[in-house]
Amino acid sequence: MTTLNGFKALRALVPADVLSELYSLFASDPDAARQRMVEIAGEKGVTLTTDQVRGFLSRMDEDEVFDNIEMSASQSFQCRRLDASSLLDWLHLTTPLMRKYASTALALQGADDRHFLAFGLEGEEHEHAALLLAELTDCSRNDQSSDQRLCILSVVVAKPFRHQGLGRTLLRHAERWARTHQFSGLHLPVPLQTNFTDAMQRLASTDRGWTASPGKVVVGLSISSAVEALLQRLENVVSRQARHASWQMAPFPEKQTAELQKRIVMARHSKLAAPWDPDAKDYEWQPAARHSRLLRHQGEIVGWLITHFVSPDCLRYAKFWVDPGWERSGAPLAMLASVMRSAHFSANTDVIQKGCFISHPTNYLLHHWITKQIKPVSDSWIEIENRDLIFPLA
Ligand SMILES: CC(C)(COP(=O)(O)OP(=O)(O)OC[C@H]1O[C@@H](n2cnc3c(N)ncnc32)[C@H](O)[C@@H]1OP(=O)(O)O)[C@@H](O)C(=O)NCCC(=O)NCCS
Repeated sequence: MTTLNGFKALRALVPADVLSELYSLFASDPDAARQRMVEIAGEKGVTLTTDQVRGFLSRMDEDEVFDNIEMSASQSFQCRRLDASSLLDWLHLTTPLMRKYASTALALQGADDRHFLAFGLEGEEHEHAALLLAELTDCSRNDQSSDQRLCILSVVVAKPFRHQGLGRTLLRHAERWARTHQFSGLHLPVPLQTNFTDAMQRLASTDRGWTASPGKVVVGLSISSAVEALLQRLENVVSRQARHASWQMAPFPEKQTAELQKRIVMARHSKLAAPWDPDAKDYEWQPAARHSRLLRHQGEIVGWLITHFVSPDCLRYAKFWVDPGWERSGAPLAMLASVMRSAHFSANTDVIQKGCFISHPTNYLLHHWITKQIKPVSDSWIEIENRDLIFPLA
């Protein structure tokens, strides 16, 4: 199509609800809106490029493009892409943990702004109604095919604005943005058994093309006699198993060492895991060296338990690994018991009240052990369901 009149005739065929969606998309992401227009034209059998759309729009004013729009509740809100400084005023709309993570991620984001995304929905009186945080996640399973999805880390609508379609509007913005930026899909972890589980599952409904699969479990513990009794049992097992052990447990170094660096390099060329890597950009945390351990065999590193503080009173057990062959040696339990004792049950005055970690059901043996031993004494056990929307290949 080459004429402006042809473009206007096409616009007249677009239903009001689709125009409304385009209108709010234009406010947040004009590129995505132009791409959507190309798609809509395609659905009507008309071939257009985004450059042609840009040219036609520049010759029409906004009123002409978006007249006759029925303004529903969600259309009286503008979607804004937030940068690190504007995000500060919106952070009350997410969890304390996510506040720190999102602020750091946005502040570190350089010229390539595809890594971290924050969208806010703002009302006519500049009310901050809803916030969505998302980041690029690499779900590729091998080097051959790339699978980069936009992972929705948090979507929260302020209480007075719920049930008006704002959650869906935000998610639609994220979807459009991800399509325009050539992501392969969306990923939404949904915590089960919460007050908002039903709403999240409806937002990412399987009727709308999303898939559902079991995800990780987030476990929280705090100091209690039941946890101490469990620790005592672990220590008894360890003292029996450690009698003939050929491994040694060692403190975790305060600073990166040549030995740790050597193991990181070695892991790149093998199927073995790597410990915390100070050069990896995806770690937003520093190890709590005093509450972490290394495992050695004949002078070589064969495992580790690395923790970090998520808040002054909560230690996250973040990286727990032993090389194949060491799983039943007593070494993993020895590291776990040693950290639990010194961090939470020592005679020190600065004991840490809480601990948390993530268990992956795909790691069947460990998850089975955790379900049997830790779940009964845990404070919180939050199962996450993975919801994924895969975009068809263009
Ligand atoms: C989940 C949440 C984002 C939904 O926002 P919302 O703007 O109210 O949702 P919408 O109006 O767009 O509705 C989306 C769907 O959910 C459904 N829904 C909304 N609230 C619901 C509820 N309480 N129970 C069941 N379904 C609900 C709607 O009916 C709609 O489904 P449909 O389109 O199939 O009819 C909002 O409830 C929220 O912010 N909850 C708190 C989330 C939170 O605290 N997260 C913290 C960790 S990230």
